[in-house]
Amino acid sequence: MGIKASDPIGIFDSGIGGLTVAQAVKKRLPGENLIYFGDTAHLPYGDKSTAAIQAYSIKICDVLLQHNCKVILIACNSASAAAYELVKEYVGSKAKVMNVIDPVINYLRENLVQTKVGLIGTKQTILSGVYAKKVKELEIGIELTSLATPLLVPMIEEGFFKNQISEDILNEYLKREELSDIKALILGCTHYPLIKTEIQNFYHSRVRILDSSEIVVAALKGLLDFHHLQNSGSNHVDQFMVSDYTEAFESSTQMFFQESVKLESHRLWE
Ligand code: DGL
Repeated sequence: MGIKASDPIGIFDSGIGGLTVAQAVKKRLPGENLIYFGDTAHLPYGDKSTAAIQAYSIKICDVLLQHNCKVILIACNSASAAAYELVKEYVGSKAKVMNVIDPVINYLRENLVQTKVGLIGTKQTILSGVYAKKVKELEIGIELTSLATPLLVPMIEEGFFKNQISEDILNEYLKREELSDIKALILGCTHYPLIKTEIQNFYHSRVRILDSSEIVVAALKGLLDFHHLQNSGSNHVDQFMVSDYTEAFESSTQMFFQESVKLESHRLWE
């Protein structure tokens, strides 16, 4: 059968954080149909083992492939770090696979030669060392310093941003030695675009904030163009699935997606 331009784009994350990426995709590529999968039963991925995240990711790919997705976009840094290679091998020629880390690495190569760059993300993302390894391979004099910021995901999910608590937590992290004198900061978690303004305020615009959702969508557009897979249709339908439905998740989707969406429950294991 092969991959068709009219097929949907599959996007997955540990939960609803990847909706920031889905939102960016919708804005930039309005003709695409999206199938979003949030693995809310296993949230957070940031504290899970590599083996566990790999197992969840493969199960999710099965669901997305059943829906004939032309692209599977891993909209989670933790899963990109832990499972990208495995997912790519598993999916083979059935769909194009993208992660959220490589587009950022390409952006660094093109824009930030010889610069000190900071990275914040979950423990899984930071401890995996994936960003550090890829930056080192670039050999363009980038000094990458990273800091795990595990309080940020629960804080954002609880709706704690743009207030005193979030400002205090952010200040506490951003003033750490690891992030001193950086010229750019990678938001290495798909939840963090929601606190981008606060991070910009902390640095008074002296540090370039790299929002991976924007960078990833530009790369996705490039991939679709390259393979002549862009959907120019206007009759699009998006579908949102979660592995464990709660009303709380459904009401939080608005925060991440800017509009409320109807979540369908889809268990990964019976
Ligand atoms: N959105 C995930 C990421 O980009 C983090 C959330 C989690 O820990 O599950 O890493």
